[in-house]
Amino acid sequence: MSVKVETLILFGATGDLAHRMLFPSLYNLHMDGLLADGLTIIGSGRSDLDRAAFHAQVREALAEHLPEDRIDPPVVDMFLDRIDYCAVDAGKGAGYDDLAALLGDRMARPIGVYLSTPPSMFGPIAQGLAAANIACAECRIAMEKPIGHDLASSREVNAQVGDAFAEDRVFRIDHYLGKETVQNLLALRFANRLFEPLWNAQAIDHVQITVAETVGLEGRVSYYDGVGALRDMVQNHMLQLLAIIAMEPPASVSSTAVRDEKVKLLRSLRKMNAEDVKAHSVKGQYTAGAVNGEAVAGYADELGRPSNTETFVALKAFIDNWRWKGVPFYLRTGKRMPQRQSEVLIQFKPVPHNIFARVGAAKLDPNVMIINLQPEENIRVKVMAKQPGLDREGVKLREVNLDVSLSHSFAGERRRIAYERLLLDFIEGDQTLFVRRDEVEAQWQWIDSIRDAWAAVDMAPQTYTAGSWGPSSAIALIERDGASWHD
Ligand code: BG6
Repeated sequence: MSVKVETLILFGATGDLAHRMLFPSLYNLHMDGLLADGLTIIGSGRSDLDRAAFHAQVREALAEHLPEDRIDPPVVDMFLDRIDYCAVDAGKGAGYDDLAALLGDRMARPIGVYLSTPPSMFGPIAQGLAAANIACAECRIAMEKPIGHDLASSREVNAQVGDAFAEDRVFRIDHYLGKETVQNLLALRFANRLFEPLWNAQAIDHVQITVAETVGLEGRVSYYDGVGALRDMVQNHMLQLLAIIAMEPPASVSSTAVRDEKVKLLRSLRKMNAEDVKAHSVKGQYTAGAVNGEAVAGYADELGRPSNTETFVALKAFIDNWRWKGVPFYLRTGKRMPQRQSEVLIQFKPVPHNIFARVGAAKLDPNVMIINLQPEENIRVKVMAKQPGLDREGVKLREVNLDVSLSHSFAGERRRIAYERLLLDFIEGDQTLFVRRDEVEAQWQWIDSIRDAWAAVDMAPQTYTAGSWGPSSAIALIERDGASWHD
């Protein structure tokens, strides 16, 4: 499918995500001339707003969330000219007729519906649109995560949406896939000859994937509690990173080729049972502490009551296939960590034989590759080098860094918001960076195995002080294997 949508309907248009990300991204695309002149955007929410009041909201959101030098008042005015508003109360099934009336002739032209609403609304909105005939063969739908809260509920949502929109018209968003740095992982692995021959169990000792955040609940109490880090971060963003790092080379970057490989990889993740989660998983919850020198409250204090929800999770995962036989993948994510840091670390095995052992270098540090995804974007490979000198007292070898700063190499390029890419691909109908139904189900299957096993052993989160790297058992999880987290 490659026709461009001519109308973009944004459900949840008065919400936080729309203000922080979606309208700033659409404005950037507009400013760069990447939106067709005829593209109309219809914001939709429950509030009964007129066009002017909605424009005032969007104007304010742009001013708040874009750098000052991107705001050009005449361009803002032209951008707002594209935008209409229509109140729809999806929960009550009200407002679809008004939407259809506003669309008028556009009903017969390609429409993109973007759902930035609570997930419980995905099915009802898809069905409300279908009933109002706003789900024609050239209409497509995009949905924010989470798609359900486990395999069964995700199947239900997918089925409800699927009744109105065929799979090739469904775009499930994981905003990590829109990040330039995440796409760069594909380039690093498959546009270079250097790494792929070593990308396997013969050469790699283990892999670490860390997504650490300094933020806490950020006012998302009702969403976050009862969801927790496993479902909020691992089920989607971390498994996407894992899949891209570990999948087999796709034949091309077509949406089918890439997603087929990701699905195969996700299905090879070894499910966990009660014994596994005791040995291979850690749940944590932060208590009061300090982050970046600022005192912060504990999770239960922010929530106003005790809770068993985890704000940190560490896992030791295995991929049961030829390439990764026996290689542990350590995953870790948490809120209120000491710094914001997303990175992938590839720890190689030691050289098979140390020829320097008898001349003074008893120990050679194995090579390590660290791919920093955010906030900095760089790639570092640690290699052993000889320290300059005549070596009268033995050869001295030392670890040095081969450093590539992508931020420097591409200093002239504006770093785009992940949603710019995703919105443009959605408008143009390219599904490569969106999550397919079987992919989301494979993710849930693995996550459900962990949650079921947690429930079976009644695992409660261990506490960690805000501003630390999680409970001490998370450190033990990896140190038991003779490795350590890269902090
Ligand atoms: C969201 C999670 O999907 O991703 C949030 O719901 C999390 O809890 C956020 O903070 C992290 O995204 P980013 O782009 O800031 O790494």
